[in-house]
Amino acid sequence: MNSQKLEDTAKSLFADNKGLLAMDESNGTCNRRFAKLGIPQTVEARRAYRELIVTTPGLGECIGGAILYDETIRQQTKGSIPFVKVLIDAGIIPGIKVDAGAKELAGHPGEKVTEGLDGLRDRLAEYFQMGARFAKWRAVIAIGNGLPSWGCIETNAHALARYAALCQEVGLVPVVEPEVLMEGSHKLERCSEVTEKVLREVFCQLYTQRVMLEGIILKPNMVLAGSTCPKQEAVEEVANATVNCLLQAVPAAVPAIAFLSGGQSAELASARLNAMNVRFKSRLPWALAFSFARAIQQPALDLWKGQEANVLAAQQALYYRARCNQAARRGAYSAEMEKR
Ligand code: 13P
Repeated sequence: MNSQKLEDTAKSLFADNKGLLAMDESNGTCNRRFAKLGIPQTVEARRAYRELIVTTPGLGECIGGAILYDETIRQQTKGSIPFVKVLIDAGIIPGIKVDAGAKELAGHPGEKVTEGLDGLRDRLAEYFQMGARFAKWRAVIAIGNGLPSWGCIETNAHALARYAALCQEVGLVPVVEPEVLMEGSHKLERCSEVTEKVLREVFCQLYTQRVMLEGIILKPNMVLAGSTCPKQEAVEEVANATVNCLLQAVPAAVPAIAFLSGGQSAELASARLNAMNVRFKSRLPWALAFSFARAIQQPALDLWKGQEANVLAAQQALYYRARCNQAARRGAYSAEMEKR
């Protein structure tokens, strides 16, 4: 394991206040999002959409790494340039989603475990050969009546740690994503309690599996009230609750925390990240950054609608959201930026 290279990759991903673009939706998830907009759910439509993203002019100014899906990392532009090369030429480090999805956890109704450890060492070696320098594994934890169970937390944390150790062995920086879902009517305090418990167990398992913390990226949820909870806290309260929760559970050796957006609106995700950096940036051991999928892509997808004629407008929207989130990393985002 080359520790220095891992540390260098982790730092490069977030240099100049950049962040990550998650464009690694599985075919199922991508097709569901296409279906809502009447876009054909075909390999070619997914390829065309991903070409739109990776060829967005200026994207490398604000995006340090892009997470691809297995289908996408093997694809090319219409002009036969591999997406991996397009990204590298734009100064964007290619990453890859390597989990095999969240499946029902036996004996735990309503809970899931993320699969994909079998054969992972060989798959990671292939992705490294293809140019990937970081990877992602997403575990999901639901909040509900009596949920999450300890069995669900422990099993997912264990899998995340084994994945992370395998990544570091081959030279990939693992993005460790334990997502506490927004769905539900629970209060913010409950999300905070669950997120802290999950993160403590994740770091316990990372320690047991001898993962080098300087060479990982943590990708957590923000601490929010459930999406159907009538009380939704103001931006500053979310920022305070999130940072206070992370301070309890995330070791200072971790270089960066890159939030998922989880279904928040694009504007709220930017505003909340911004508020955290305004208030805490100078006092935190880790960078607070973004690894958004929907909160960067959704406005662009809505504009594209599968039509060639809309590519330019969609690329401008994508670039704009990436820019807003880069500003949020500096604490320089404002609602004014949205009035372009
Ligand atoms: P969202 O930002 O849409 O939550 O997606 C992030 C992600 O990569 C989920 O694994």
